[in-house]
Amino acid sequence: MKYRAFGRHQFSVSEIGFGGWAIGGSWGSQSDADSLAALNQAIDLGVNFIDTAAVYGDGRSERLIGGVLRDRAARKRETIIVATKVAPTSGVQPPSPYCRADERYPEALLRESVDGRLANLGTRQIDLLQLHTWTRAWNGDPKPLRVLRELKREGKIGLIGVSAPDHDPNCVIDLMRGGWLDSVQIIYNLFEQEPAAELLAVAKTTGVGVIVRVVFDEGALTGKFTEKTAFPSDDFRARYFEGDRLPRVLTRIEAIRQDLAETRYTLAQAALKFALAHPAVSTVIPGIRNAAQATANCEVCELPDLSPELLVRLRRHNWHKGSWYGGK
Ligand SMILES: NC(=O)c1ccc[n+]([C@@H]2O[C@H](COP(=O)([O-])OP(=O)(O)OC[C@H]3O[C@@H](n4cnc5c(N)ncnc54)[C@H](OP(=O)(O)O)[C@@H]3O)[C@@H](O)[C@H]2O)c1
Repeated sequence: MKYRAFGRHQFSVSEIGFGGWAIGGSWGSQSDADSLAALNQAIDLGVNFIDTAAVYGDGRSERLIGGVLRDRAARKRETIIVATKVAPTSGVQPPSPYCRADERYPEALLRESVDGRLANLGTRQIDLLQLHTWTRAWNGDPKPLRVLRELKREGKIGLIGVSAPDHDPNCVIDLMRGGWLDSVQIIYNLFEQEPAAELLAVAKTTGVGVIVRVVFDEGALTGKFTEKTAFPSDDFRARYFEGDRLPRVLTRIEAIRQDLAETRYTLAQAALKFALAHPAVSTVIPGIRNAAQATANCEVCELPDLSPELLVRLRRHNWHKGSWYGGK
């Protein structure tokens, strides 16, 4: 495993982190035994950063992670950073420009949710608390972040972050410049390269940690999907790849494969290496469901970096999908 500075903060994080959404559920059936094996294997291979959220299986992901960390702490000393997220009140997702910050993230909800996260993780302080989503409409008066600052002063949370909405990552740039954030979580992958335009450079100059999510475009960029791939109805990907979305993605994946044909990288390896090629990226958190995926993803750190020539070729696959859910 290799490690990087987490922005301006006084600790390092593993290049490969652990994405904890699927182990909570909503990706079809998932056994806790597989999830526990995945977590233990990842940590054994050097992963020290785990991302989860209140809504991942209504706390199931957090509880699994908390349990693993407690079990391991009884055996040896290791420092694992856990980032979790507090969800806004129910309503339009991501919040619309007409939503009020203090209605979607009221102080009472933030405080209650922080206590819930502490209970699920079985800890006295949340290492990093992220707001699960945001809208630029709140940048002028970011009330929920003032509440999180208070919770930080009270010692309940260590660092403050925002997980940027899928289709407007740049909405957090003003917050980064304003000193509101310790970290941001963004989509940055072979398709979605918009953060390279500005956000990543701002992260570097402001010392904000960058967590990259959805590096595999929900599994597609591992290269294992075909036109025949079908998702069970309880797997959120049945909706994400509905209609003609999967064939459109597969066409683009074929083009990436051609660029990789003469190289030693599989598509999944190139996807991870591409995100890690940007120096502002602190950690990439692929979703991991079993020990084999933990091993395959962690091993990528041992491969040589992508050459500048290959990076230039891969940048041509930039594809800003727009609002995936807004229409086909
Ligand atoms: N708004 C937010 O804040 C937000 C939104 C989304 C995600 N996230 C975070 O980001 C993390 C990563 O995103 P994601 O999990 O949605 O998507 P992802 O990382 O793009 O895809 C993960 C999926 O790819 C498959 N996979 C992983 N490693 C593999 C390997 N080596 N070979 C083959 N298949 C592999 C697994 O699914 P299968 O085995 O089922 O194919 C896995 O669940 C999440 O777990 C979560 O922590 C946050």
